[in-house]
Amino acid sequence: MSGKSVRETFAGRKAFIIAAIGSAVGLGNIWRFPYTTYENGGGAFIIPYIVALLTAGIPLLFLDYAIGHRHRGGAPLSYRRFNKHFEVFGWWQVMVNVIIGVYYAVVLGWAATYTYFSFSNAWGDKPIDFFVGEFLKMGDIANGVSFEFVGMVVGPLIAVWLVALGVLALGIQKGISKSSNILMPVLVIMFVVLVVFSLFLPGAAKGLDALFTPNWEKLADPSVWIAAYGQIFFSLSICFGIMITYSSYLKKDSDLTGSGLVVGFANSSFEVLAGIGVFAALGFMAAAAGQEVSEVAKGGIGLAFFAFPTIINEAPFGNVLGVLFFGSLTFAALTSFISVIEVIISAVQDKLSMGRVQSTLVVGVPMMVISVFLFGTTTGLPMLDVMDKFVNYFGIVAVAFASLIVIVANEKLGLLGDHINKTSSFKVGFIWRFCIVVTTGILAFMLFSEGAKVFKEGYEGYPSWFVNTFGWGMAIGLIVVSILLSRLKWKNEPADSIAEEK
Ligand code: ALA
Repeated sequence: MSGKSVRETFAGRKAFIIAAIGSAVGLGNIWRFPYTTYENGGGAFIIPYIVALLTAGIPLLFLDYAIGHRHRGGAPLSYRRFNKHFEVFGWWQVMVNVIIGVYYAVVLGWAATYTYFSFSNAWGDKPIDFFVGEFLKMGDIANGVSFEFVGMVVGPLIAVWLVALGVLALGIQKGISKSSNILMPVLVIMFVVLVVFSLFLPGAAKGLDALFTPNWEKLADPSVWIAAYGQIFFSLSICFGIMITYSSYLKKDSDLTGSGLVVGFANSSFEVLAGIGVFAALGFMAAAAGQEVSEVAKGGIGLAFFAFPTIINEAPFGNVLGVLFFGSLTFAALTSFISVIEVIISAVQDKLSMGRVQSTLVVGVPMMVISVFLFGTTTGLPMLDVMDKFVNYFGIVAVAFASLIVIVANEKLGLLGDHINKTSSFKVGFIWRFCIVVTTGILAFMLFSEGAKVFKEGYEGYPSWFVNTFGWGMAIGLIVVSILLSRLKWKNEPADSIAEEK
């Protein structure tokens, strides 16, 4: 806010925790975690995962809370309140959300559509051909790209945008909080029923064996550790503006670390539950096809839109399973999507001193149009794949590294630690600061090792012009736009001192 107006708050700590869990639990939990675990050593992956959660996830969650809560602003304003020159880091975080937002909506739209398809197994006997050919009408990009609209994608895509923007326009208490209060309990119930259902499918044990049998050798592979850190960052929504924004709406004396611990462990519990449910179902699929789990296990898009329709076709009460799975995916993704867009709205609201509805429209309408024009087309899927890799991996890791280094190098950790300790039950000290410094180093390693790999080898065999434009070009473009946005004049110069902000 401009320093004059009063910032809206969550009604209380419980409301904040539910919204923060809503943000954390999303596609990262349901379709990313199970496969990442399986691919990176199965049961053995739990070790790097727990190390990453305890040494990076939870400490950085506390850090994000401290920044937003102390500075009472969206990401750019919060960084500006350290120092005027730091505003750019906040905008970089905002821009990462712009990219995530435009494609997250697409997957959300697909999931909602597939919930409906689950009633009738609309994908027929060949779910892969249906998804790629009939549903997405995807062409082969080796033969050039075409941007023709796909009606079955565009309609639901616009619908999910309208729902999310409607919620966001209502503000923190009436919109974000109320919607999380409704969606989260429904999600938990649906998901628990889904997991229990999956565990009773014949072959479920085979899936769980595949997921949890530890491959200890993998622990010596640095890429497994990188995967664990990457998973924690995306899944907990840390270091890219979301938790800064949400905590800026917390009341002044809120227990930051107490809430952080609840959110962190709830998110991980959901993740492990998703792993169990998904692999039990994959075990069934493998048993039914007389194959090994390794032959049917897939990640991301392949898991949700290829493997699950096959499972739904074959399982007893498959339609119920389908509605539970795709419905859970839709609800989980919706609350996360809302938090992603809120980062942008909050930043615009601060900078331009705009009202809630106006800023929602200024942010939402152009983003919806971009989302439809890029991803509602026949080239939507490959573009989504490349952008996801670049923003999800490089974007988040790069912005996290840059935002942390600026805080560490400018000795702001002590200040933020004091702020946490003033209001919180669980106190932080040397170990917390040490974890953050070490994590900053690990992020640098992740960035350069994976960056060098993609630079050398390309990505998934896509033509290099395509990866250069939508991958590297987009990643660099984000930084340029962030610099420009940080140079724009504030409508009302914000108070530097938080004491002036009531
Ligand atoms: N944390 C969100 C997710 O897991 C963004 O999808």
